[in-house]
Amino acid sequence: MSEMIISSVTTEAEREICYHLRHVVFVQEQGVPVELEIDEHDAEDAYHFLGLIDGEPAATARICVFGDKAKIQRVVVMKAFRGRNLGRQLMRHLMDFARANKLAPQIALDAQTYAVAFYESLGFETTGEEFDDAGIAHIHMTQPA
Ligand SMILES: CC(C)(COP(=O)(O)OP(=O)(O)OC[C@H]1O[C@@H](n2cnc3c(N)ncnc32)[C@H](O)[C@@H]1OP(=O)(O)O)[C@@H](O)C(=O)NCCC(=O)NCCS
Repeated sequence: MSEMIISSVTTEAEREICYHLRHVVFVQEQGVPVELEIDEHDAEDAYHFLGLIDGEPAATARICVFGDKAKIQRVVVMKAFRGRNLGRQLMRHLMDFARANKLAPQIALDAQTYAVAFYESLGFETTGEEFDDAGIAHIHMTQPA
């Protein structure tokens, strides 16, 4: 398989592709209510990223800065591409971006509990108690930037 090329999203058209990938995975695959999937940060202050393999959209994620935290959100690898280390590649890209641009002192995320081991392998540690978001169990995770 060809390499995945990850880039920062700069156009409205690319952002729409990210929304589409998120819709397929979060709304259609995981049953998240459609009205919760896109929020006010998407158009205003989120950094969006898109991963392409041979030009085909394969992965996306965003970063939003909240106070002292650069928060990684909406992490998606399309089903057909999972299990090939692309999620890890995407996460490393986001973490490097947050550090290189000094977005915040901490890098954080809310992990779906099934994916805790995945984020632990990238240096994140859980904090606090499990909580429900859009009907899915989550837990906060963080690491210094
Ligand atoms: C979570 C997700 C992004 C992982 O992407 P991926 O490309 O399949 O992951 P990778 O192939 O990079 O996996 C890297 C490592 O994490 C592990 N891993 C991946 N998903 C895991 C999971 N759900 N639970 C435990 N470990 C997991 C892999 O086994 C691999 O470890 P290894 O290198 O020791 O074998 C992907 O499953 C996904 O998009 N899921 C649906 C959306 C979602 O739930 N997003 C996360 C919201 S918190």
